[in-house]
Amino acid sequence: MSRLIDHRRAVHRDDSPHTVADLLNTARDEGALTPQGATGIIVANLFAAHESTAAALAWLLLLLDRHPRVRRQVRDEADRELAGRLPTAADVPCLTVTASVVTETLRLYPPLWLIERTVEEPTELAGYPLRPGQRVAVSPFVLQRDPRHYHQPTAFRPERWRDRSPADPLPKYAFMPFGGGPRTCLGTRFATAAMTITTATLISSYQITRTPGTTPVFRTRTILQPHHLTLDITDHPPGPRPRPHPTGTAD
Ligand code: HEM
Repeated sequence: MSRLIDHRRAVHRDDSPHTVADLLNTARDEGALTPQGATGIIVANLFAAHESTAAALAWLLLLLDRHPRVRRQVRDEADRELAGRLPTAADVPCLTVTASVVTETLRLYPPLWLIERTVEEPTELAGYPLRPGQRVAVSPFVLQRDPRHYHQPTAFRPERWRDRSPADPLPKYAFMPFGGGPRTCLGTRFATAAMTITTATLISSYQITRTPGTTPVFRTRTILQPHHLTLDITDHPPGPRPRPHPTGTAD
């Protein structure tokens, strides 16, 4: 990263910034950032953007493997809305089934399953006195499986997002895979659009199934991941696509 940022300094000739590296170099020149600070920003953003989205997509593909009826709905929607072409950001508003699958995946398996803060000054929270240096955590994983807000909270039911009445809104923090408050995720819209486009692309082009005999397990480091998940990916066979058995909903 340091090399790339320095290279950009060498090749960027005019005053207007064209890349993030140009902005960071300007901040370095003005003394607002050290070279290490500039590199750290890029690395932190790559980590925040890549690992979380990759984990969410891994959970999503696992869920679609377990729920062939939903997978079929995603594929039908892609066939109908895209008619064989690759999706772009402009297609996202039309891919409502796919978007609901993305949202339901982020509800059940929020990649940042635990969000932590360190107390800076003495305070009280819900009757608990807090001292500086203590750590406080809120878990989207727990909140998003709360039966007070979700019917059958552990079930994968993407339709719950499509059926939801605007007259019955969720409490503000009942769904918070992207955090909340002043440090909320900067990539929320980008990540949901990227996941919707990626899902439509993959499911319309490939058969993706969990490799027989493999059993993913929860990995709860910073990012919640389906550890040991391996998937078999093959082209769709030519000819009419097999329809799932009507009773094979496996919900
Ligand atoms: C499914 C994908 C993603 C999830 C679940 C996710 C989740 C989160 C969460 C929960 C936070 C807040 C952490 C905290 O409060 O301590 C956060 C922060 C952040 N995210 Fe994401 N994120 C995702 C994708 C992305 C992408 C694609 C980008 C950039 C393009 C991004 C950029 C950031 C940045 C820069 C922050 C720090 C914001 C700040 O501290 O002011 N994220 N993300």
